[in-house]
Amino acid sequence: MTHSALPARVVVTGATGKLGRAVVAHLRDEGVDVLAVDRAGGPDPRAVGGEFLLVDLTDYGQVVEAFTGGTDEHAGGIEAVVHLAAVPAPGLVSNAATFANNSAATYNVFAAARAAGIKRVVWASSETVLGLPFDTPPPYAPVDEEYAPRPESTYSLNKALEEEMARHFCRWDPELVMVGLRFSNVMDVEDYATFPSFHADPRARRWNLWGYVDARDAAQAVERALAHDRPGADVFIVANADTVMTRSSASLMAEVYPGVEVRGELGRHETLLSIGKARRVLGYEPRHSWRDHVDPAPLAPE
Ligand SMILES: NC(=O)c1ccc[n+]([C@@H]2O[C@H](COP(=O)([O-])OP(=O)(O)OC[C@H]3O[C@@H](n4cnc5c(N)ncnc54)[C@H](O)[C@@H]3O)[C@@H](O)[C@H]2O)c1
Repeated sequence: MTHSALPARVVVTGATGKLGRAVVAHLRDEGVDVLAVDRAGGPDPRAVGGEFLLVDLTDYGQVVEAFTGGTDEHAGGIEAVVHLAAVPAPGLVSNAATFANNSAATYNVFAAARAAGIKRVVWASSETVLGLPFDTPPPYAPVDEEYAPRPESTYSLNKALEEEMARHFCRWDPELVMVGLRFSNVMDVEDYATFPSFHADPRARRWNLWGYVDARDAAQAVERALAHDRPGADVFIVANADTVMTRSSASLMAEVYPGVEVRGELGRHETLLSIGKARRVLGYEPRHSWRDHVDPAPLAPE
């Protein structure tokens, strides 16, 4: 592991979104000075709380201003960027609109960070690049970062291109540290009430190999990634340590993907989205589980 102190002042994009809210709260709790930005701030952006700036990231000029202290009332001194803003899934808007927004926003964030001399960028990639929804079975399980991206949607294609773009930004600047976090499906505590509905049908959640990530653990991963100081671009799967299911991970694989090689000894509910690299390199360790929040009584037998 190569770790340094957390940067003192950070921009978080997508700050009013599901993941952004958890990340901003977590970083502020850790004492990081956060400039939160998003294009959505409700009717009155001043009501968001904390330092907030309404920014459309598809406009490069606005991004440069945000990163350099060019906007009245918002200081510069930005040491790192956490880029979470995006249309966050396939099928919400048209493919062309997803690609236009997400690719322009990410290019502008990466390029403006470079122009501002910011040497640390952490951004949200996605579990989708692993081949979700796995209509083509995974090459082996648990899946990890060792095989090439297999995007199956325009949303995911854009995430795969962002990972490639980061490699080139790092080639251009040998001091740059860029960390892509391939988040699993992000869950707030209130979402756990729906989990028992998954249990009767082993195929209901096969699309992401029964994975999830608690928003608070995702925020911890962002914090660990901000402390990562090995120059270059790298990517990490970020999921919780268990699956969404009551059945064992081995029995799920045997029933749903009988032809897929299962590597190593699986713990009973061990995630099939390997977090071994994030644990090893970033020191990420999920602290939460849906099992701590849902009464086990109504759960189907294992
Ligand atoms: N939610 C998940 O399950 C999940 C899983 C894997 C990866 N991700 C990724 O994590 C990130 C955050 O996702 P989320 O679930 O918090 O989504 P969200 O929709 O709740 O939040 C995304 C935020 O980005 C903002 N945004 C979008 N385009 C923008 C633009 N052009 N300029 C400024 N702001 C813009 C939106 O206003 C929104 O507040 C995204 O990059 C998403 O692709 C999410």
